[in-house]
Amino acid sequence: MEGREISKAVITRLPRYYRYLGELMESGVERISSNELSAQMKVTASQIRQDLNNFGGFGQQGYGYNVKYLYEEIGKILGIDRKHSMIIIGAGNLGQAIANYANFEKRGFVIKGMFDINPRLIGLVVRGIEIRSVDELEEFIEANHIQMAALTIPKARAYEIADRLVAAGVNAIWNFAHVDLNVPDDVVVENVHLSESLMRLSYRVSRLQDEKKRKELKKAK
Ligand code: NAI
Repeated sequence: MEGREISKAVITRLPRYYRYLGELMESGVERISSNELSAQMKVTASQIRQDLNNFGGFGQQGYGYNVKYLYEEIGKILGIDRKHSMIIIGAGNLGQAIANYANFEKRGFVIKGMFDINPRLIGLVVRGIEIRSVDELEEFIEANHIQMAALTIPKARAYEIADRLVAAGVNAIWNFAHVDLNVPDDVVVENVHLSESLMRLSYRVSRLQDEKKRKELKKAK
């Protein structure tokens, strides 16, 4: 499995498997068949088998999957068996909301610091994390071996800050600013755009509404 390329589609589904398996473990379930997992996750059993076979098939015929083993293996693949030191740039509404969410730490994402340009925010502490001046950015990244940064600043400043982060050695950016960043190949960016997710929801609900209208019209004829 080590070093093997796993398709992007499978990677996208892994966090959901990880969540379900974590819940099963918490409720004391030791093993589960692909059929049982399929019923809970509303994914076909064949899809589950296909996805999990990517990792050398943790399942055994007639036994099912060992929940703890599978949970740990998926955790390793997702890299959450290790700690990631992270900073947040932009300590406004979104930056503070992320800092206040203690559960990221349980997944290995340790928020070491927050940065802003607003003098009224600098010096404040959010859940034990100090907000520092963005002037201290490079020094802090180097001293604390920071690898990851969440970007929660206005888009007009995002390019400049991303360049500084990369030059200082950050190689993973969790980007909330509404821009597509240009970064070198050895830097990874994960864009999170809630508005895009909302637009997908809007598309789906509009389709449902249209369908309902069509049915009503048909009935009325
Ligand atoms: P906010 O205005 O509350 O916070 C932005 C913070 O960034 C402010 O504290 C400001 O002083 C700071 N800032 C500005 N330039 C900076 C720089 N060069 N260096 C360091 N800090 C700097 O805004 P909010 O609501 O927290 O949103 C932040 C950004 O995230 C906005 O661009 C917004 O459009 C975006 N956003 C994205 C979402 C998504 O799903 N991707 C959802 C919500 C907001």
